Amino acid sequence: MREDTARSRIVLRNTLREQASPYDLRGDAHAGLSSTPKTLPSKYFYDARGSHLFEMITRLPEYYLTRAETEILERESGRIVEAFRPRVLVEFGSGAARKTRILLDAMLERGLLEGYGPVDVSAEASRNAADALTRDYPHIRVEGVIGDFERPRDLPFAGRPRLMAFLGSTIGNLEPTHATSFLTSIREEMTAADGFLVGFDLVKDIDVLERAYNDEAGVTAKFNLNVLRVLNRELGASFDLDAFRHRAVWNAVDSRIEMHLVSVVEQFVRIPSIGLDISFAAGETIRTELSHKYTRESAGGLLQASGLGLESWCTDRSDRFALALARARSV
Ligand code: SAH
Ligand code: TRP
Repeated sequence: MREDTARSRIVLRNTLREQASPYDLRGDAHAGLSSTPKTLPSKYFYDARGSHLFEMITRLPEYYLTRAETEILERESGRIVEAFRPRVLVEFGSGAARKTRILLDAMLERGLLEGYGPVDVSAEASRNAADALTRDYPHIRVEGVIGDFERPRDLPFAGRPRLMAFLGSTIGNLEPTHATSFLTSIREEMTAADGFLVGFDLVKDIDVLERAYNDEAGVTAKFNLNVLRVLNRELGASFDLDAFRHRAVWNAVDSRIEMHLVSVVEQFVRIPSIGLDISFAAGETIRTELSHKYTRESAGGLLQASGLGLESWCTDRSDRFALALARARSV
């Protein structure tokens, strides 16, 4: 009974298979695996298993990002909400939407909360989050998009005062040029009343950074290898998961952690469904993820270049992570 009323407040629009969707596993796998060096876009990590493994990453002792961002949200959510008094929270890459609750609570306490608009490629994570939130927030409406956030058109709750959030340092997973075009397209969707909140992981000690992506328990390795399972299942590829190894290293020139899958041996992998025969030299890698680390200056430059004006910059007590609050600059 309760369940039914909660479900009736959820609308999730799936745009993954729309014509113009940039979510194209076949095309992206073909392009990435036939290029030099080999790459795969990270959005394909997040099937049900990948989303679950990511949740486990957020609880790892080495993975400080989630705890640092939670600390800032717990301290600043009141001020963030007061600055814009949003009625709706729109979130890109929302996943399990756990930290999200800190912002929703601050909106609820002030009598502002009407809706939540998650945008995420993971259908499973989106459905689970929507179910949990409508159960726990009896009046909230969830109008979400299961789709690629890099095409933020027709965002939910147009016309309502919105806080747009992009948490978890997911901005860092985009190349800086993509980050700029993504932020610019969000800015174009924003009105003068809307706020934009974005989490940046900060440049720090290399050992701390590398440990965060090479955990003792091997969860990040499983997460990284999961993309090969996705290719095996979705494209009928023949990747042997034991023939690849996880590696995460700091790239100082580009200020980023890079995740790779290293081919342990010389090998050939066939993906007949997309007409691809791939050869790997021993030690050759597929680059599967980038995680850029920012400074206050580089983050400010990115926002500036995207037409966003910085309102406030808050870090955790140990200066590991920052939340930037911004508004659309009038141009
Ligand atoms: N916001 C959560 C999850 C971050 S993990 C947190 O801070 O803990 C990144 C999330 O972004 C995942 O839920 C993944 O499914 C989603 N994602 C990754 N690439 C995406 C894309 N191109 N479009 C939409 N969602 C994407
Ligand atoms: N954006 C987060 C980060 O860069 C989460 C993330 C994305 C991640 N891909 C990952 C974490 C791969 C570990 C491994 O840290």
